[in-house]
Amino acid sequence: METSKYTEDIVSQWRETWSAKKLQDLIASCENDEVGLPYFLKHFSKEGKILECGCGLGQWLVYLQTLGYQTAGVEIVPDCIAVHKRYYPDSEIEVGDVRSLPFPDNAFAGYISIGVLEHMIEGPRETLAEMKRVLRPGGTAVITVPAFNYFLRAWYPIRQILVDLVKYNPWARRAMGKSPLLKNTRKTDAELQELKSQLLPQFWPSIRIDPDKGPLFIEYKVKRGAIENYLNDLDLEIVEVAPIFHPYVFSDVCGKVFFANPGSDVESPRLNIPGRALNAIFKFLSPHFFNYLYLYVVRKKGKYSSKA
Ligand SMILES: C[S@@+](CC[C@H](N)C(=O)[O-])C[C@H]1O[C@@H](n2cnc3c(N)ncnc32)[C@H](O)[C@@H]1O
Repeated sequence: METSKYTEDIVSQWRETWSAKKLQDLIASCENDEVGLPYFLKHFSKEGKILECGCGLGQWLVYLQTLGYQTAGVEIVPDCIAVHKRYYPDSEIEVGDVRSLPFPDNAFAGYISIGVLEHMIEGPRETLAEMKRVLRPGGTAVITVPAFNYFLRAWYPIRQILVDLVKYNPWARRAMGKSPLLKNTRKTDAELQELKSQLLPQFWPSIRIDPDKGPLFIEYKVKRGAIENYLNDLDLEIVEVAPIFHPYVFSDVCGKVFFANPGSDVESPRLNIPGRALNAIFKFLSPHFFNYLYLYVVRKKGKYSSKA
């Protein structure tokens, strides 16, 4: 496991994101969540603790506790833990890496991973193996990853060519009267090749070229069926697989033009009428055509005995 560069990159990426959010707003938005909440309510028991991995500011820990669940959380960005502890000093939340959890085997009845597995450039195997280790037999996990849906499979390769040709190409930028985005293209090219050599071919990678830090791996998007291979290899029972729609998939493609409330940066955007019409057509074609996420409900095989 390569820790230092990964940790440095991920911490700096997420510290920025979380510093712009308010824990109380996030807790308030949990109630209306249409992604994870219905599955948490359906599959988690109030007996035994639920671990959220990559919990950010920890809104789910608080919200699920108000519903009577017992929770714990792990997050790699120390600032998140500090913010959470300021408001909830008694919460069980700590700094840690989901690929090497600071808990004994069979410690949890539930496991949550919302938008985390895709951030490992080496893929999700190690994280899922850790999940299996800390889940007790019969324990349940709810996991989401971003979908590389049918629409994006057609659009992203075209977008990639346009980005390479226009955004980063110094000649194209000069022709448009703009200065080159990258200071040292030869160094950036070498770093980019090194990063690309680590990528897994079964996923679609998002890479951002930061003018100061160089190429950064952001996340993978995941094709239908790809995570199932890992779950089967680990002999985990797949209880449910759901393609999930969210308005954010529109903003990935064309900004906020299909949002009913484009001016505000809300946690729960709504689609305008053209957006809803398009979404209805896409859903009619296939639930995998324009879904934002794949959600998996997974069970560790075996029966739990409190005497064990
Ligand atoms: C998309 S956010 C999701 C946060 C939270 N689950 C939610 O639903 O609001 C991904 C989170 O995973 C964290 N993360 C990424 N890699 C991690 C790792 N190896 N160990 C622990 N946390 C990690 C990031 O710092 C970030 O807070």
